Amino acid sequence: MRSAEWYGGDDRNSYIHRAWMRRGLPSDAFDGRPHIAIANTASDLTPCNAHLNEVARSVSDGIYQAGGIPLNLPVVSLGETQVRPTAMLWRNMAAMAIEEMLRANPIDGVVLLGGCDKTIPSLLMAASSVDLPAVVVPGGPMLTGTFRGVPLGCGTDVWKLSEEVRAGTLSAAEFTRSESSMIRSRGHCNTMGTASTMGLLAEVLGMTLPGIAGTPAPDSRLLEMSHETGVLIVEMVQKERRPSQVMTRASFVNAIVALAALGGSTNAVVHLLAIAGRLGVPLTLDDFDRVGADVPLLVDLQPAGRFLMEDFFRAGGLHAVLAEVRDLLDPAGLTVTGRPLVEYLYSAVGDERAVVVEDRADLVESPSVPSSSPASASSSSSAAVPSSSSTDVASSAPVVSPPDAASSSESRSALGGDGSALIQDGGSGVVGGGPAVVGGGSTGAGGGSAGVGGGSASLGGHSAVVYDREVIRARAEPLQEAAGIAVLYGNLAPDGAVIKPAAASPALLRHRGPAVVFDSVEDLHARLDDPALEVTPDSVLVLRGCGPKGYPGMPEVANMPLPAKLLEQGVRDMVRICDGRMSGTAYGTVVLHVAPEAAAGGPLALVRTGDMIVLDVPARRLYVDIPDAELLARTPSPATVEAYASPRRGWEKLYVDTVGQANTGADLDFLIGSSGDKVSRESH
Ligand code: FES
Ligand code: MG
Repeated sequence: MRSAEWYGGDDRNSYIHRAWMRRGLPSDAFDGRPHIAIANTASDLTPCNAHLNEVARSVSDGIYQAGGIPLNLPVVSLGETQVRPTAMLWRNMAAMAIEEMLRANPIDGVVLLGGCDKTIPSLLMAASSVDLPAVVVPGGPMLTGTFRGVPLGCGTDVWKLSEEVRAGTLSAAEFTRSESSMIRSRGHCNTMGTASTMGLLAEVLGMTLPGIAGTPAPDSRLLEMSHETGVLIVEMVQKERRPSQVMTRASFVNAIVALAALGGSTNAVVHLLAIAGRLGVPLTLDDFDRVGADVPLLVDLQPAGRFLMEDFFRAGGLHAVLAEVRDLLDPAGLTVTGRPLVEYLYSAVGDERAVVVEDRADLVESPSVPSSSPASASSSSSAAVPSSSSTDVASSAPVVSPPDAASSSESRSALGGDGSALIQDGGSGVVGGGPAVVGGGSTGAGGGSAGVGGGSASLGGHSAVVYDREVIRARAEPLQEAAGIAVLYGNLAPDGAVIKPAAASPALLRHRGPAVVFDSVEDLHARLDDPALEVTPDSVLVLRGCGPKGYPGMPEVANMPLPAKLLEQGVRDMVRICDGRMSGTAYGTVVLHVAPEAAAGGPLALVRTGDMIVLDVPARRLYVDIPDAELLARTPSPATVEAYASPRRGWEKLYVDTVGQANTGADLDFLIGSSGDKVSRESH
């Protein structure tokens, strides 16, 4: 154990490390058991994560049960709605601080508790750079709120309602009254915004207990699976299962597929690139287009569609969606259980694709379903193979469970010929539960092993079954055929820009119109509603100075409000272009993440009001229709340059001096990569 480097021995330093930690811990706490940090982003100022202390207690119980020592580690937390100028300014700071504390402390593994937008990305970036055994517990979405009998989606409906106020169809008093209806319970935003997206993608990357992502924050199953995650992390430490083994290129390919099928947030592009950068996994902006562009949108959730995360979970959740696109997933993508993600996507014996479609009224929470769930398959497999079940761990002194009896070759053959890989346990045994028959055999099913605590993992009662085809569509009847992120290039974005066609107006995906340029958010707000502003529905709104360096922090301002006089005419969407980001809960024909940003010398700084701009999403083009030489001969106006941030000290200075562009993940240049978990010097 890594912690034994602190606590083992009888010299003065180990005395100091042990003595200050005792405070009620029994002596056997230092006998070599895994010490597990619970990196907890609970904070009253991150309201989406405020419930994570309760989650942490369940995780602690699971760690204790499995023979580990749980240690609460409060870490930098970012409340998306609260901090100014933007939570993104501190994603990298949070990641850096968490990384350093994970490495500096005497811990053997870590459970990462996140939820609100930047929290799971910063935790995963940190864990990647330390590469200690790590598992995420996504805090989960809040319940559906209703206002005047109609469901309200967090974020998405804020934009809609505020536009209604500006258009004069909703009173300011009613608008205010809707606040507590919208935010009805603990949990993060319940649309398919960034928080929902990153919680789900954490699971697709392999970094959660399979089946947990998307569980609503107040749902008792979240606590049950949090407990199981505590059991799992102890096993992971014993098997030395690290993020670098789990998050491989295959995992990122799967995340891109899932991002498209889910209709997830554009912010995931920046976060996935940053996480991959920490791991040294080759991943580029173009991969999102190449891998994801043709993936169909299967989930009818706001902002692209109608429903909310509670509906998504009830309809079958992540595994039901992934089962629909299983053929597009890379079977080499592994999970923290040591077993492939695709193993968890079968449910019904005898159904080749293992997706059962039934009338939801018959099937929701029906007791007949779990009999074919992965959890029950796990129970049967664990009966035949000694596993690291929770009871094994609890009864084996002091903590280390027996290695799995299954040899890797046995399990490989049991996996059939689908190329699935397993994480090796010291080269001798297979980690996770017993071998599961998957992909081979006549049924094509057999269920994925839960692999977690042997037969104890319930996977929340979820299996890859669709209970509501309104919410989760069949592959043959998608909401949209090709829904992934489109990556655009041209003289406005030499290093690329992104657009989410699923959230855009189809009629605007090919558009030519005159630019109306704003140098800053303040400039936009000062002039947008001016009746004298020369703007038509064909105009292209351009907002610059909002990239990582320019603002600083790349805020979510790209979904600019529309000019009041156009709103009054009934205009609800226009082409907008920005070097900033857009809230994952927003919608519209918005070109984002223009790289390089204006403040980093990008040609976006050179566009003038009246220039003709061409957006051609099918051709992946974005350009200003003047000769390149003429464009590049221009210099940015003084007003443009004056709008850029120029911090002189502190974090903002460090950030602006070292942050990279959106197309590579907007990480700080000196944080890319990993330093591992080694600490070279003693403290005394
Ligand atoms: Fe926290 Fe939306 S504000 S997830
Ligand atoms: Mg956000």
